[in-house]
Amino acid sequence: MSIRSFARRVIPKSLVQFVRGLGARIDRRLLPVFAVTKWTSSLYYLFFNRGFGREHQGVLQGRIAYWRSLHDIAQSCVLLRRNTHRLEKGLIMRPRRPSFAEAYIEETVVCYLRADEAGTVQADEMRWAKDVLDAYFAAVTDTPVIAKVRALYAKAEHRQSQGNPMATSSTPYPQGSLPESPVSTEQLATLFLKRRSTRWYLPKLVPDEKLREAVNLASLAPSACNRQPYEFYVINDAERAGKIAKFAGGTVGFAENIPALIVVVGDLNAYPMERDRHCIYIDGSLAAMQLMLAFETMGLSTCPINWPDVEHRERQMQKELNLKVHQRPIMLLAVGYADPEGGIPFSAKKSDATLVK
Ligand SMILES: Cc1cc2nc3c(=O)[nH]c(=O)nc-3n(C[C@H](O)[C@H](O)[C@H](O)COP(=O)(O)O)c2cc1C
Repeated sequence: MSIRSFARRVIPKSLVQFVRGLGARIDRRLLPVFAVTKWTSSLYYLFFNRGFGREHQGVLQGRIAYWRSLHDIAQSCVLLRRNTHRLEKGLIMRPRRPSFAEAYIEETVVCYLRADEAGTVQADEMRWAKDVLDAYFAAVTDTPVIAKVRALYAKAEHRQSQGNPMATSSTPYPQGSLPESPVSTEQLATLFLKRRSTRWYLPKLVPDEKLREAVNLASLAPSACNRQPYEFYVINDAERAGKIAKFAGGTVGFAENIPALIVVVGDLNAYPMERDRHCIYIDGSLAAMQLMLAFETMGLSTCPINWPDVEHRERQMQKELNLKVHQRPIMLLAVGYADPEGGIPFSAKKSDATLVK
């Protein structure tokens, strides 16, 4: 028995409620005092409230993991992704500057060479980096810095960057070459109206291929500097899905009938500085939205599930999915074939009258 459940048994409920109420009243009195400056706010979170503790540790461990990841290169390299994207943006500038990226071209090429040497990075990512670097060196006028890095790049063996020889180049292209979208606003509105948070499902297995296909569609979502700092932990097993769904508070009453669950996990190892720490939530949520809509087009329904930063829940999830402190669950998604008899809350939406300022 945990200390928590033991305490729950022996301490009278009325006493617990009294102490909680008193604590809440004192807290409310303290807030205006500490909220006056950033510094006093930090004091409050140091001495009276540990609510940000896990995030602080996650951000710091993420920064450590970031620097480590530049040497222990895995399937994807965040610096290579970010800098390749900065280069491709430089290539489309109007007017394009004769020389650009002097501040980061050396670290980009060093990183590319390291990734090529490691041989672990996905072929598409390496090919994108190579194509963009080739286009960059073809476009820029040498300065002393660029000339030095050009010589370094010339030595690259490009072991990993072959990818699919039939694939088109991963360099910038004109907007006009994109395909026309066959989706009308009305069709999109129907899809949006059809996607409703669905909590009752048929006991029917979700095919793995559909889960993978939806993830590939979700991966087309925008992300800051194209880092895509998230992963989808897919649990396609109703029993385990229910167990993990229960870690979140908001699934009481329907966790048991969830056929498949996806935990969207952001990784703070994508950033050397805390200023970007929110990007995992933004990028992860944009991808999660596309994921839900992709499922909808496949006849599958979803329900997003809140993941509040509650210490004992965080520990449960961390243990279950074997997450590092810098890997932060963003939200959970229930996925399955909807029970047509299952109720859908009306959930009235705000309109432009309130939303547009
Ligand atoms: C981030 C997020 C967290 C949510 N968490 C829960 C949850 O824990 N439990 C639940 O039943 N619904 C949850 N929902 C679903 C919302 O209640 C639902 O999206 C909202 O009422 C609007 O209804 P709709 O999704 O059908 O448009 C969540 C939705 C979002 C976007």
